[in-house]
Amino acid sequence: MADQVVLKEVGPRDGLQNEAGFVPTDVKVELVNRLSEAGFQYIEVSSFVHPKWIPQLADAADVFHQIHRKEGVEYSALVPNERGLERALEVGVDAVNVFMSASETHNLKNINKSIADTFPVLEPVIRGAKQAGKPVRGYVSTVFGCPYEGPVAVENVLSVCYRLFELGIDELSLGDTIGVAVPTQVRSVVETLAKEVDLSRIALHFHDTRGMAVANVVAGYDAGVRVFDGSVGGLGGCPYAPGASGNVATDDLLYLFDGMGIATGIDSQAVADITRWFEEKLGRPLPSHARAVARGRERGASCD
Ligand code: HMG
Ligand code: MG
Repeated sequence: MADQVVLKEVGPRDGLQNEAGFVPTDVKVELVNRLSEAGFQYIEVSSFVHPKWIPQLADAADVFHQIHRKEGVEYSALVPNERGLERALEVGVDAVNVFMSASETHNLKNINKSIADTFPVLEPVIRGAKQAGKPVRGYVSTVFGCPYEGPVAVENVLSVCYRLFELGIDELSLGDTIGVAVPTQVRSVVETLAKEVDLSRIALHFHDTRGMAVANVVAGYDAGVRVFDGSVGGLGGCPYAPGASGNVATDDLLYLFDGMGIATGIDSQAVADITRWFEEKLGRPLPSHARAVARGRERGASCD
């Protein structure tokens, strides 16, 4: 059987949390609905963090109420604490995504707590989600570098990851929050983790700040990872990581995996159409390379 990967779409959450303006609720709903139709099985829809911290996603409950839920698609949300879990369960999320950082300063700026003080907050969230029958993903941010502290010791990364597994997360997503990783580093972190954790439980989440994200995905793939996060058009960033730009564009991951003959189950043309449509809604071009080629074609200037 041909090899396959799972692409998890985080654009509606990671992308839109970093938009300067508020994207209207009906546009968010249409975005999620179109992503469902394009074949994604995992869509991170929004975030139940404090609306004062991320006003762009203050309409999370409305978005969940209004989307059309396609059978077989998992609609998840970011949840920082028990209050967030309560809000997420009220709207019937399919999966709960908790998050914290491997570096103290980013953790503090992002969620207002030390790393040690974060575990007792996440413990009841993970337990409560599991009791409600929801799978839990744990994001670890700043795995490959922190905007405030620079390099992050691999021991610090590992201790946060192992603790989250002990608390019961099902899947770990390793975040290159500010897009500093290079492929050798990715391989090394994945290989180290794989000594203790089944690779099927590890996902990679790259931001493309320095144009390394696709190379890092290939390094992760070669090291055995099969789950990758991406954002349609390359939307996104982290508002508490200065200078962080968008996630790797899902469009570019599709070009990569389609070209390598690796199945994703996602309709690349449908994703290209979503990116084009969303650029119109935002009134600005999105950073996806695949989209830049398509824009060139639309202007009659073919670059291939
Ligand atoms: P805090 O102010 O320390 O919260 O914020 P608190 O627990 O002290 O509570 C203060 C008040 O907020 C209370 O209300 C709570 O009820 C309320 P009061 O009693 O004063 O009336 N409150 C809430 N209300 C609604 N929903 C909630 C909630 N929680 C508390 N969930 C907190 C702590 C974590 C809430 C805040 O810092 C926060 O919301 N931070 C989120 C920041 C964020 O979303 N960052 C971006 C996402 S992470 C990311 O992008 C990285 C990732 O993509 C991976 C990568 O790239 O590396 C995942
Ligand atoms: Mg992110």
